This record gives sequence, C-alpha cells and structure tokens, in this order.
Amino acid sequence: MLNKLLTILFLTLTLILTSFHATTLAVNIDTGAQIFEAQCVGCHVGGGNIVRRGKTLKKKALERNHINTIESISALVTNGKNNMSAYKDRLTEAEIQAVSAYVLEQAEKNWKK
Ligand code: HEC
Repeated sequence: MLNKLLTILFLTLTLILTSFHATTLAVNIDTGAQIFEAQCVGCHVGGGNIVRRGKTLKKKALERNHINTIESISALVTNGKNNMSAYKDRLTEAEIQAVSAYVLEQAEKNWKK
C-alpha cells in the first residue's frame, strides 16, 4: 500500500517537473523567435544574409564559419562583427541567449517553420 502511494507520488512529481521544464523551454524559443523577428529579420530573413551572401544562418554556413554553438553565436551577437552591429546595449544577456538558441534551432530545421 505504502509502496503504491510512493510510486504515485513519484510519478506525479516527475510529471510536474517535466511539464514545467517543457514550458520554460517553449517560452525561451518563443522569445527567441520574437527577438529575431524584431531585430534580425531585416538582414537575416529566412535565415539568409542580405549583406554578406556567404554569412547566412544556415547550418552549413554556421559550421563553415565556426559560429555553430550557442556560445559563439551569442558572442557574435553581443559584440557584433564587421557590418553587423553589436547588440549588448539593445538586448539583455538572456535575450541574446534566447535568440542564439532560436538561430541554432532554426538552422537544424533548415529554417522551415
Ligand atoms: C544590419 C544587418 C544585420 C542585422 C540587423 C543582423 N545581422 Fe547578423 N550578420 C550581418 C552581417 C553583415 C554578418 C556577417 C559578419 C561577418 O562579416 O562575418 C552577420 C553574421 C551573423 C552570424 C554569423 C553567420 C555566419 O555564417 O558566419 C550570425 C549567427 C548572426 N549574424 C546572427 C544575427 C542575429 C541573431 C541578429 C539579431 C539579433 C542579427 N544577426 C542581426 C548583418 C546583420
């Protein structure tokens, strides 16, 4: 009897914890998408790059240019590079993390919604 109760308790806890985790993740990706729409589409519409053709946000280009981790993307977004301006005064660190995660996620999906 006690064993059964404990199992139920454990399962309920796991359920609550996993669903909580899923929601936080979803929120992150969502804000990432919103930030991208507001700040980045101008030059990177559809994961492309209207300024520098070889520097797209597609998986292949990111790999070639070694900008294919959250760390390297957020560093680039924070400090800017050549014709891309820095975002450290416009976005918080958390927002930069979120938009970087979104870029990576979209690259994995080849920018198909
Ligand atoms: C004014 C146009 C412009 C805007 C707006 C812009 N970028 Fe860029 N982005 C560029 C240019 C130009 C490069 C190429 C930089 C270089 O010379 O390596 C670039 C490069 C990148 C790269 C590296 C791509 C590669 O293949 O090397 C990433 C990732 C990136 N941008 C993400 C973002 C994100 C995220 C935002 C929004 C927060 C953003 N960019 C906003 C112009 C822009």
